[in-house]
Amino acid sequence: MVHLKTNLAGLTFEPPLILASGIMGQTAGSLEKMIEMGMGGVVTKSVGSDSREGHPNPSIVDVETGILNAMGLPNPGIDEFCKELGKFIPNKPIIGSVYASNTDHFVGLSKKMEDHGVSAVELNLSCPHAEGYGASVGSDVGLVRDIVENVVKNVDVPVFPKLPPMSDMVTISQVVEDAGAHGIVAINTVKSMAINYETGRPVLGNLYGGYSGPGIKPIGLRCVFDVYKSVDIPVIGCGGVTTGRDALEYFMAGSSALQLGSSIYYRGLDAAEKISSEMIELLDQEGYGSLDEIIGLAHQ
Ligand code: DHB
Repeated sequence: MVHLKTNLAGLTFEPPLILASGIMGQTAGSLEKMIEMGMGGVVTKSVGSDSREGHPNPSIVDVETGILNAMGLPNPGIDEFCKELGKFIPNKPIIGSVYASNTDHFVGLSKKMEDHGVSAVELNLSCPHAEGYGASVGSDVGLVRDIVENVVKNVDVPVFPKLPPMSDMVTISQVVEDAGAHGIVAINTVKSMAINYETGRPVLGNLYGGYSGPGIKPIGLRCVFDVYKSVDIPVIGCGGVTTGRDALEYFMAGSSALQLGSSIYYRGLDAAEKISSEMIELLDQEGYGSLDEIIGLAHQ
């Protein structure tokens, strides 16, 4: 039977399925629960320097092919969040996700995450709808270089920038690799909106939201494929992985590990367990001896 395990930037993910930021990532209890339910690692909700209430409701809407959300980066601020991290009993890697609008804040947040025991830091350069944060930072190549270089210089744990889907993934990937990143997470949600036909009005309180779920899988696969062929650091794929088959497609595109978010909505809290079993069954059926045999297969 194939054993699902990846070593990436000095960390072991077993299975290589990691809870994505934004879902069940607010408390030590929920993060531990996700590990109990089969995740090989977890990413916290994105945390900033100060507390934020988030966007007005409605902040989430189910569309036929996925989910739109515009939570607005609600979080208690780094100091409160670090108290929560203190309660986390790690037996799998925990990745601290941070967001900010400038380099100094990214560095400060990452150092605090490291001081409170995270195994790695994820830089949210890709939230699609928070003015001044996320993708508005991630689309400024000079700023991205500066942020990544300085965070890498100031912490000892691995640093994983999370990129937005862009038509050109090559330039940004090479910039973050040059800046010293230890891996790239691709992709975050896709900027989108829903309109209520009856009222003729946008559905989300914030108008725009981030699209996730099955509908974005082809976008994620293309981005992972492009990142894999442009850099030598590992790619952590994300975007619409709902079944074991989806997961294997992402490994074939070049992922070394995957993040799961919306799949928890579609498959339940034990989504990782279900996806792992499906992956093993498919790999065994095809006669593969290890996951490594299929990583990047689509590039041959
Ligand atoms: C939010 C943040 C994200 O990075 C994302 O992809 C979607 C939503 C948020 O908190 O609103």
